[in-house]
Amino acid sequence: MPTIHLDSLVKRYGEVEVLHGIDLEMADNEFTVLVGPSGCGKSTTLRMVAGLEDVSDGEIYVDGNPVSHLEPKERDLAMVFQDYALYPHMNVAQNISFALRLARRPKAEIDAKVKEVAAMVGLTEFLHRKPGALSGGQRQRVAMARALAKDSGIFLFDEPLSNLDAKLRGQMRAELALMSQQVEKNMIYVTHDQIEAMTLADRIVVMHGGYIQQQGTPEELFKRPANKFVAGFLGMPPMNFLNGEIEDRDGRIFILGEGFAIEIEGEKAEAARKHNHKLITLGIRPSDLRFDPEAPADRSLSLDVMVSEYIGAQSVLICQCGSEKVTVELNSETPVALGTALKFAVNPNGVHLFDRKSESAL
Ligand SMILES: Nc1ncnc2c1ncn2[C@@H]1O[C@H](COP(=O)(O)OP(=O)(O)O)[C@@H](O)[C@H]1O
Ligand SMILES: [Mg+2]
Repeated sequence: MPTIHLDSLVKRYGEVEVLHGIDLEMADNEFTVLVGPSGCGKSTTLRMVAGLEDVSDGEIYVDGNPVSHLEPKERDLAMVFQDYALYPHMNVAQNISFALRLARRPKAEIDAKVKEVAAMVGLTEFLHRKPGALSGGQRQRVAMARALAKDSGIFLFDEPLSNLDAKLRGQMRAELALMSQQVEKNMIYVTHDQIEAMTLADRIVVMHGGYIQQQGTPEELFKRPANKFVAGFLGMPPMNFLNGEIEDRDGRIFILGEGFAIEIEGEKAEAARKHNHKLITLGIRPSDLRFDPEAPADRSLSLDVMVSEYIGAQSVLICQCGSEKVTVELNSETPVALGTALKFAVNPNGVHLFDRKSESAL
């Protein structure tokens, strides 16, 4: 299994620098997901690894060897694109075997390989169909099978599920997770969808504006976001942010804001203690706010419910806290009168503090 190392990778288009020094190391057999909003540089990074874009500065190493001077076909990789790029005049088997036929592999070997990968992605019955006679999901599987058939050490995906409808996307996501456990390859997967990133990744790399914001396991990034951007990008509904100020009251640490004064403890309080009177942004995920009419005032937010969105077992409530918006979730069975104030207890371990100016976690 090749290891991949991006070393201070820079990309410029003319005068404009779009990637500002990407440093990334991928371990053996790791599923790495590059995630970030549209335009943050995910595809450009992937295309440089693939050799489809020149590197402006820095180097890409595979197994310790620089590869940025190599043609795409000289690199040991297979790529699945967002639009699948299938050959319309070839049937499924011919599409899957294209690279093998080009490489003049023996017919018996090609046939065996086509059978093997078609079974892997559930295409066995469709080998003689042309792409035009397949559904979106089936076409997506052909693209996947074609990449698998190449037997490369590195597998690159650029938003392979984004052309599918929501239901199929969920289904393919689960299949992809299963497949990635079966095939031992280094995978780099690009998506703007944080749910795909969270569910598929061994390691998530969050990008924004041509910079890496943070990398780590899904759990690390979810529990310990390095900054406000990562905190707000991962998780659904997104984290709530409130303006606040740290206040040390005889050793007890409070976060004061418009309409609330909550005491915090533990690790976060220790971090805050060094920053008495600092202006911060308080981050709390909806899942860390629990409806509790009995919650003490210094452990809870009092929220005015503005909108209730019924989505099944849970309702999503859009509330007002002072002049700021806060989203919470509530069991749909709980009766709620709009315009009334409800108390939500704050999970003491679910409090995130960000420097208001730099937006970095304290
Ligand atoms: N061929 C190009 N010429 C000029 N700018 C480009 C080109 N390709 C991409 N860009 C710019 O580079 C930035 C990153 O693009 P891209 O890597 O496609 O983002 P993502 O895949 O994260 O949506 C964007 O601002 C985009 O407009
Ligand atoms: Mg892209």
